[in-house]
Amino acid sequence: MEKLEMIYEGKAKKVFKTDDPKLFIVDYKDDATAFNGLKKGQIGGKGIVNNTMANIIFEMLEKRGIPTHLVKQLSERETLVKAVQILPLEVIIRNVSAGSFSKRYGVEEGILFKKPVLEFSYKNDDLGDPLINDDHILALELTTEEHLADVKKYAYEVNEALKEFFLERDLKLIDFKIEFGLHDGQVILADEISPDTCRLWDVNTNEKMDKDRFRRDLGNVEETYQEVFNRIKK
Ligand code: TMP
Ligand code: ASP
Repeated sequence: MEKLEMIYEGKAKKVFKTDDPKLFIVDYKDDATAFNGLKKGQIGGKGIVNNTMANIIFEMLEKRGIPTHLVKQLSERETLVKAVQILPLEVIIRNVSAGSFSKRYGVEEGILFKKPVLEFSYKNDDLGDPLINDDHILALELTTEEHLADVKKYAYEVNEALKEFFLERDLKLIDFKIEFGLHDGQVILADEISPDTCRLWDVNTNEKMDKDRFRRDLGNVEETYQEVFNRIKK
């Protein structure tokens, strides 16, 4: 399968058409951004880590009955995926307070919630991806009630699967962001699951093992991505 015209270039990935209209190829870059693109950099080897890690996780999720875009990995940085129209929603689940939750509500990081917190952001760079609720989503007609119900159901299921998966690798899943798309009229999980899109803390030391090392200039960024990758591959 060959890459044809590029249809989208995001901050961390490029997406290409193929000769099959139902399939795309995604190509992962080492580019990293934060704060809506204000901070820019590169994390050596990140594209390889994120591509392979997302695929290992998507395969695990498929086995648990969650539909994903994964078809097959083509190379270190490239994966053949089902063509989707991405829903303009960042679906975030939080198990422990951190990041924008802590900032917005004035609480310390590290508070374990009694139940997972689901939140949505409207994927819109010009507006800075604002927080949005179910009624806003329906008022703006970003998706239908039926598809929104699927998104929420899958998001909680992904959380349960990921918590278990990471804990087996001595990582606590603090929070994460996922994206969904429509393929043949069905909601499926798309985009990626990686240290770019999850907060992962070492179970024993609470050390940050994710993109916060880049966002907050904590050092050892590349080494941390490799360490997470080593734990995942086992
Ligand atoms: P937040 O605390 O900054 O809102 O981030 C919540 C989770 O979402 C965290 O795991 C990082 C992830 N995330 C992304 O994947 N992309 C983004 O653009 C942002 C802001 C967060
Ligand atoms: N995707 C975000 C951006 O560049 C980065 C982040 O994960 O914080 O805006």
